[in-house]
Amino acid sequence: MTHDQASDLRRLAEQAFSREKARPARGASCRMIAVTSGKGGVGKSNVILNTACALSQLGKKVLVFDADFGLANIDVLAGITVRSTIANVVSGESSISEILVDGPFGIKIVPASSGLQEMADMSVSDRESLIESMSTLDWDGDFILIDTGAGIAANVVDILLAVPEVIVVTLPEPTAITDAYAVIKVLSQKGAGARIRLLVNRANNPQEGADTFDRLQRVVKRFLPIEIEYMGYVASDDRLVEAVMRQTPLMEAFPRSAAAHCFNDLARKIANLPVEERSTGGFQQFWRNFLRGNGKARL
Ligand SMILES: Nc1ncnc2c1ncn2[C@@H]1O[C@H](COP(=O)(O)OP(=O)(O)O)[C@@H](O)[C@H]1O
Ligand SMILES: [Mg+2]
Repeated sequence: MTHDQASDLRRLAEQAFSREKARPARGASCRMIAVTSGKGGVGKSNVILNTACALSQLGKKVLVFDADFGLANIDVLAGITVRSTIANVVSGESSISEILVDGPFGIKIVPASSGLQEMADMSVSDRESLIESMSTLDWDGDFILIDTGAGIAANVVDILLAVPEVIVVTLPEPTAITDAYAVIKVLSQKGAGARIRLLVNRANNPQEGADTFDRLQRVVKRFLPIEIEYMGYVASDDRLVEAVMRQTPLMEAFPRSAAAHCFNDLARKIANLPVEERSTGGFQQFWRNFLRGNGKARL
């Protein structure tokens, strides 16, 4: 990003804040959690969708923001048809509220598109319309769960640096653990302020989940100046594969399956986590952080 682009971004961010200050801070108590992974295919999107459904069953208002601009698929997993995406917001055809779709269990979904893959390469006017529309989304729910792409690409890391809470999903296998470590290391090096929690997906039993966390935590403790917390595990469950084939969330297709129990536990844990000041601020706070930090991942 050039110096000019950086100052353009700052100017846009400042304009968005002054508009924001003029209105009451709706959604300020909304918690924003990004779910990421080192390796693709570890179950991020399924974790998000099903945890969102489980949170909703606990009476929480949840919005899922699909920010996996490369491999967007929350809509496919939820079996919904999407007409417009974030790309239509950027082009000015739609407002963010217009592209919001209703998902299962009353959750709301912001569908992604591959059109935004390189956020920093967007023209100033495109960015302006995106920020404008983001700051008009009056989401006064309890949670925004963000599905990021996998890996340490700048467009993923920029999102992770802007959110207050990150859940890193890994599998028990060594390659996934190594890649999860790589993400955590980058976040640590870039000075991420987020709380980082680990979720072990496809564990054969609770012990395998705990052991996987211990392995990763040992390395993190030894080499990085940050701490990670254990979020729990999700059982490896063929029912989940079947639910994906049916394009129905597991929570709907097989609510009594082993993995569904794990998602219920996970949702309860998330709902009961202490709310820190940095955890809230909602969508507007996220865009403020995102724009301030944009380009940081490229340094
Ligand atoms: N707990 C699980 N048990 C069994 N299979 C799973 C589980 N979680 C994920 N999978 C399999 O992994 C595939 C990829 O999951 P997905 O959520 O799309 O990953 P990501 O979003 O990380 O790329 C699913 O389609 C499913 O076949
Ligand atoms: Mg995915």
